[in-house]
Amino acid sequence: MKICIFGLGYVGLTGAACALTSNHTVFGVDVDPGKVAAVKAGKSPIVEPGIPEALAKGAAEGKLDAGTEFAEQVADADLAIVCVGTPSLADGSHNMSYIANVSRQIAEALKTVDRANGPLTVAFRSTMRPGSIDDLVWPIFTRTLGETADAKAEMVYNPEFLRESTAVKDYFNPPKIVLGTKDGQPNATLDALFEGIEAPRFYCRFRDSEFVKFMDNSFHAVKVAFANEAGRVATALGVSAAATHEIFVSDTKLNVSPYYLRPGGAFGGSCLPKDVRAFAYIAGAAGENVPLIESLMPSNAAHKDFVFRHVSHGLAPGARVLMLGLTFKAATDDLRESPNVDLAEALMKAGYALEVYDPALEDAALIGQNLGFLLGRLPGIDDLLVTADELATRSYDVVVDANGMAKNLPPFTAPLIDINALK
Ligand SMILES: NC(=O)c1ccc[n+]([C@@H]2O[C@H](COP(=O)([O-])OP(=O)(O)OC[C@H]3O[C@@H](n4cnc5c(N)ncnc54)[C@H](O)[C@@H]3O)[C@@H](O)[C@H]2O)c1
Repeated sequence: MKICIFGLGYVGLTGAACALTSNHTVFGVDVDPGKVAAVKAGKSPIVEPGIPEALAKGAAEGKLDAGTEFAEQVADADLAIVCVGTPSLADGSHNMSYIANVSRQIAEALKTVDRANGPLTVAFRSTMRPGSIDDLVWPIFTRTLGETADAKAEMVYNPEFLRESTAVKDYFNPPKIVLGTKDGQPNATLDALFEGIEAPRFYCRFRDSEFVKFMDNSFHAVKVAFANEAGRVATALGVSAAATHEIFVSDTKLNVSPYYLRPGGAFGGSCLPKDVRAFAYIAGAAGENVPLIESLMPSNAAHKDFVFRHVSHGLAPGARVLMLGLTFKAATDDLRESPNVDLAEALMKAGYALEVYDPALEDAALIGQNLGFLLGRLPGIDDLLVTADELATRSYDVVVDANGMAKNLPPFTAPLIDINALK
């Protein structure tokens, strides 16, 4: 393939080097004449293992060229890859001016050429906010190209997961390949580019693919911050940070695993909230500041508020709501700090006609803290609880599956919201 790469920084040069290694022809574009001159001469403007060799070989074989002007190149290119920077602005948002400029420049260039071989696939690898292709990039192409936009260009968003210092290795052994397209369907040009690279491949819509990169980077930051906070507290307490870390990461069932890692309900129960609060206290008493751990309870409270808004969205005042499950998870009668009790309380306070079905709550069997917690939060609980037989005779405006028990019940006619599985 003939590939034009826009932005000869870390991402663009890695893409160029790897495309050359895969026997493609590369034309590099940058606004910086110094970088262009270096790449044209087969020299790498950055330090990154594997890149100097690949660029030198590409230039020697006549497969690599570069320029600040590129109009002619897009006439017969198979693919354009955009890797311009998206640096931070003062308010924390990305500076999208480079993306806007390069989009306009590519669109202007396409205006002047005849794309006999069909639309140019333009794949964006820069990290940019969800909605950027739909709301910024494609409108620039359509404004510039008018009715010919679809015939001249098609967009792909292909987030880049490389890490500097192992960028070339990462390119050929990525954790995954994500391809965002208009309709979430595969793109033949990008599939051809990644042919032979073994990695799970995901096709999704533009904004899903744009979002994935933010999830990844934020989660990596959470991991570093969490490990460092735990390590700081351990050190302050005379606990071995290294030994406890080793034990922690060895648990690939509950700790380093997808378990607990899903968008759904808030955390609750008799252990997590109590021990998160206590850990923050222990850290503070030891003189350590742990903002991430201290943020967990407020984050959970924000999520409980979200769940209430999600469930009550569009409901008429006084609507009839059935909650399936009140305990903090199915197959237990433990109600302590159950987020489902918070939800029930919020729904009642908002004036909805709430009923609750939870076979784990035989109220006669409720004792001790469980009973105290329930009566303190939902004093009228006896009037809310319905039996399986009663369910068949009732009608509701919405059914809220709080504990995943809907699958074991006859179907409901009312809309069902599973709060543990956000769509
Ligand atoms: N560096 C990484 O490890 C990494 C990893 C994944 C994703 N990303 C993302 O990829 C993007 C690029 O990152 P980078 O580190 O390669 O940036 P960089 O700053 O090293 O390179 C960007 C290049 O784009 C050039 N450029 C700006 N406007 C241009 C235009 N109109 N036409 C052509 N070239 C233009 C700049 O001159 C610069 O050389 C960013 O959005 C970044 O967040 C970076």
